[in-house]
Amino acid sequence: MFEVDHFIPLEYNNSIDQGSFSWSAPSNIALVKYWGKKENQIPANPSVSFTLNNCKTITTLAFAKRQNDGNFSFDLLFEGKSKEDFKPKIQKFLERVERYLPFLKDYHFTIDTQNTFPHSSGIASSASGMAALAMNFMSLEKKLNPAMTDDYFYSKASFLARLGSGSACRSVKGQVVVWGSQANIKGSSDLYGVEYPYTIHSVFKNYQDTILLVDKGEKQVSSTVGHDLMHNHPFAETRFAQAHTNLDQLITIFESGNLEEFIKIVESEALTLHAMMMTSLPYFILMKPNTLQIINAIWKFRNETKIPICFTLDAGANVHVLYPNEYKEKVLQFITAELVGYCQNGQYLCDEIGNGALLS
Ligand code: DP6
Repeated sequence: MFEVDHFIPLEYNNSIDQGSFSWSAPSNIALVKYWGKKENQIPANPSVSFTLNNCKTITTLAFAKRQNDGNFSFDLLFEGKSKEDFKPKIQKFLERVERYLPFLKDYHFTIDTQNTFPHSSGIASSASGMAALAMNFMSLEKKLNPAMTDDYFYSKASFLARLGSGSACRSVKGQVVVWGSQANIKGSSDLYGVEYPYTIHSVFKNYQDTILLVDKGEKQVSSTVGHDLMHNHPFAETRFAQAHTNLDQLITIFESGNLEEFIKIVESEALTLHAMMMTSLPYFILMKPNTLQIINAIWKFRNETKIPICFTLDAGANVHVLYPNEYKEKVLQFITAELVGYCQNGQYLCDEIGNGALLS
């Protein structure tokens, strides 16, 4: 286990003038949701997610030594073109992580980033984007301190990613990642995500996530505003306790492969997340009519076929359809026949559980 102080480097033995790295990092989908945080991106409750495989951000970081003038120096490119409006978010990230990466002002950086999913798909790229950037900075730090262990490398990458966006800390590793201190999960920490350390039943192998794009518009509620709504929320404490209980129950379910119980937890978590938004002040409804149409169609299909598919939601209208790999063909038939009509421009993305960030 690492504490915050472990991530403040003492001094570096090596130096490097210039170079570049390229890392990809995937998106992830939470089963137990992170909703509510304390100071410094500390989650109000633990969460667990499936790391995805296909929805990724690929970021190249080029660096060149410069005279430290007390400022950060970087260019930001999105798909090869300058993207000024992404810069403030990166500037803020650099400010937050500077303490842990004291070399940042000694370099000029060119950050070139692209996503494998359409930019306008409504899929948040902050998790994959912040994770990919954090990996690159860790590659640079490893050049300065080659003795660094892999455990430190990945834990600190997740720690840095968390400071960019909470859920990003779950995008460094695969396939199931826990973030947030939980009594019954050894090694779990509020500071970074860890690979789920216990047995996972083979039914979860290659688990599928088909993402139905119901509404590709801008997020109605930014996650910062959303998390803030949990301060003074009338149900906050009960909700945070419930997340602990649900995660506890998942430990047994991951081992047994009991999908009936899995579905109950996952769908209840999704609806609870939305219930929190509906019962906060101000209140929001982030589902759209088609989100509900899809949920009802999934329930009907599950009842009729006994195929164990379920849904989960993020803080938006899109629906993630989760199911075991063995039902892929039948579920995709169902999706194309009955659900695509509820998607904006008929769009959906096929993804599955994956292994985390990769150096290319
Ligand atoms: C609903 O990670 O986007 O997706 O830490 O403010 O960047 P910030 O929030 P963010 O919140 C994601 C919340 C969620 C649930 C989850 O992924 O656990």
